[in-house]
Amino acid sequence: MTEQDFILKSYNSDIESGSVKWSSPSNIALVKYWGKKEHQIPENPSISFTLSDCKTITEVTYTKKNSSDFSFDVYFEGETNEAFKPKIQTFFERIEAYIPFLRDYHFIIETSNTFPHSSGIASSASGMSAIALCLMSIEQSLSVVTELSLSEVEASHNYFNNKASFLARLGSGSACRSIEGELVVWGKNDSTESSDLYGVKYQGDVHPNFDQYQDAILLVDKGEKQVSSTVGHKLMFGHPFAKERFSQAHENLAKLKAILATGDLKAFVKIVESEALTLHAMMMTSMPYFILMKPNTLEIINKIWEYRAENDSNICFTLDAGANVHVLFPKNEKEQVYKFIKSELVAYCQNGHYICDSVGEGAKRL
Ligand code: PMV
Repeated sequence: MTEQDFILKSYNSDIESGSVKWSSPSNIALVKYWGKKEHQIPENPSISFTLSDCKTITEVTYTKKNSSDFSFDVYFEGETNEAFKPKIQTFFERIEAYIPFLRDYHFIIETSNTFPHSSGIASSASGMSAIALCLMSIEQSLSVVTELSLSEVEASHNYFNNKASFLARLGSGSACRSIEGELVVWGKNDSTESSDLYGVKYQGDVHPNFDQYQDAILLVDKGEKQVSSTVGHKLMFGHPFAKERFSQAHENLAKLKAILATGDLKAFVKIVESEALTLHAMMMTSMPYFILMKPNTLEIINKIWEYRAENDSNICFTLDAGANVHVLFPKNEKEQVYKFIKSELVAYCQNGHYICDSVGEGAKRL
């Protein structure tokens, strides 16, 4: 599919008002996206686990209007929120060419997260994908098609998901991996079915070792990051190690494909931890350089390594663009690992807070 496929010329239905509601999850990358071209096109492919419980729930109510400006109000957890408006305005400007009805309606966007707002967990992936899905449901109501064959229904389901992901990408790159589950690939590569324009549900074999894989998110630092990911991505321009990093991501994705099929957890741990540390190494070797890990991030990493060695465990960590630690482990280690987290790792979490999550199936219409 190309960008042109996502431009609908006209709609065959006229609706005065309505409302749609979606819940959309966060995701955690195993091979990381860091560095982008214009229009949020990634410099390298990435793959992520879709999460199950860390979600944004968004309801969009739309009412026909006459003026030609964008018009919307935003409510976050029941209260009007001016702070989110500029991001949504920019998002609308970026997607207008693909969603021609954007200027025809006034939108009330009511949104809330299942995870605490100031937890340091990026809500942009779940937040942007939830709005994109709401807009797609509105588009669907405006383009009523009467009878479809089975293959047409399947094609229209794929179109819906691909376009929702395409729109979400324009809001926040990694948001395009939040539409489907359980593993999603984004960015062209030779090992998997993929696109630069949207996330694609991973098509390769996945060993049962990865069923309901667990992610405990340890909240080390709930504050605002000193360097945003927008700035971080930009610093990959002219970065001395960029070329090597981008090709390494291709190699790691190819290796991960084999690992996912065979269920080799020891090899999985190596790729995932190396990807996390490489992401942060890119930050530390940017100019200007920066560090998003905190002392407790390193304390936790060392404890995880100790625990893994002593217990022949397959626990590992990964990191986003922040100080929080995602602790990944297979379901059959759940009881033991949570004991370990409670006894050894909670001490390094801000106010002792952590979130228990696992791999999920993707967004849902409510
Ligand atoms: O989607 P953005 O622009 O916030 O970038 C997020 C990048 C990482 O979370 C660090 C890695 C990833 O692939 O999700």
